[in-house]
Amino acid sequence: MGSLVVVGAQWGDEGKGRVVDLLSEQADVVARFQGGANAGHTIVADGEEYILHLIPSGMVRGKTCLIGNGVVLDLPTFFEEVDHLTGRGMNLEGKLFVSDRAHITLPYHRLLDAAREAANPARKIGTTMRGIGPTYVDKMMRIGVRVCDLFEEDLLAEKITANWEDKTHGLRHLTEEQRPNPDAVLGQYLLFAARLKPFVADCSVILEEARREGKHILFEGAQGTGLDIDFGTYPYVTSSNTIAGGACTGTGVGPTHIDHVAGIAKAYTTRVGEGPFPTLMEPFLEERCRKIGHEFGATTGRKRLCGWFDAMLVRHAARVNGLGSLILTKLDVLDEFETIKLCTGYMYKGEPLSHFPSSLRVLAQCEPIYEEWPGWMTPTGGVRRFSELPEAARDYIRRVEEVCNVPIALISVSPSRESYIALDQSLLRYDFSVPEAISSES
Ligand code: IMP
Repeated sequence: MGSLVVVGAQWGDEGKGRVVDLLSEQADVVARFQGGANAGHTIVADGEEYILHLIPSGMVRGKTCLIGNGVVLDLPTFFEEVDHLTGRGMNLEGKLFVSDRAHITLPYHRLLDAAREAANPARKIGTTMRGIGPTYVDKMMRIGVRVCDLFEEDLLAEKITANWEDKTHGLRHLTEEQRPNPDAVLGQYLLFAARLKPFVADCSVILEEARREGKHILFEGAQGTGLDIDFGTYPYVTSSNTIAGGACTGTGVGPTHIDHVAGIAKAYTTRVGEGPFPTLMEPFLEERCRKIGHEFGATTGRKRLCGWFDAMLVRHAARVNGLGSLILTKLDVLDEFETIKLCTGYMYKGEPLSHFPSSLRVLAQCEPIYEEWPGWMTPTGGVRRFSELPEAARDYIRRVEEVCNVPIALISVSPSRESYIALDQSLLRYDFSVPEAISSES
């Protein structure tokens, strides 16, 4: 039995969907704990591609899936995904649960998100426009609409009307027709409520029961540590705690019941939206990386910026998440690079920095310290054993492990389910022995 939290160690899009799909094979329960329809997990299973924004990737394997209280629930997206999965023959009954404490994203949240982004280009975050920030604002302001409120019609009507009045200032640029009508919103959400009812549960209770029964539980993070509201590159972050601690507050499981935390990092780095990116590649290589790695947002289709592996960022992620192991993804994207740069730290005003800075002004003045590693110029997509990788690839991976100071447990080498190298099987088995560092091998 074991509880595993999987988080992104960079700025999101690390390939979590694919890894969670793999790790959910042995899981009994898969839970999401933060974010909302801003996430986009792509899973390729049996030749079919699934893109899920809200429903945990484990659903593709027919696992019990939970959407925790820390998630902000966009109901039209949720039902679209339910229809998509049931349309492919999946039975979600008794398998998919939504926390009664999760907050609901309402139509005005999306409009407010767009209005905030458009208001001042200098303060734009580059959000996914899914209403994430405004939904969490309401949650923290203690005026949010929760799933359990959907079943109390008078309370729901009262909240929507009061919030509506509260938001009119932010939406004053819209015409009457463009603004959602509160009565229409109420009517629509009462219909949603009826449809949602069979999925609603106290997810904390389900998790506790699963734990007592010795089940394997996988907590699936969305976005990445660089986008965490507290430990990311604020304000260019999302509005939730993407780090492992969020698994506790976002599902109702205590920290003593988490057995292991695995961080996912690409063999390089990407970022979408505004915000600093110290290891951005040279334009020609960046373009090449984006093309080979299909680096376009699963939710918005936006171009992702591509950069070299940033060990300063991943060490920061290792600390704030308590990473017990690292999963390296998309190694194959580097197959055609003659030289690969690896950022081992930052220089600031002529001195090496000891840790990832909190101030964006400091970050903007940091110069990455690079090592250059020879590329392997050989396809790695078919490799299933570490020893069969080209020597230059093994050297690069060992060095990544060394500079991040976290053992690498898995490496993925192509998007399909079976394309990975397992350096440590314990993650897949949920027994969480301490993985042996490959960098200590001779
Ligand atoms: P929001 O979460 O839509 O408010 O966007 C805030 C920031 O997080 C923006 O820079 C987005 O591009 C980024 N972001 C949100 N979700 C994801 C994701 O799933 N992958 C990568 N970046 C994301």
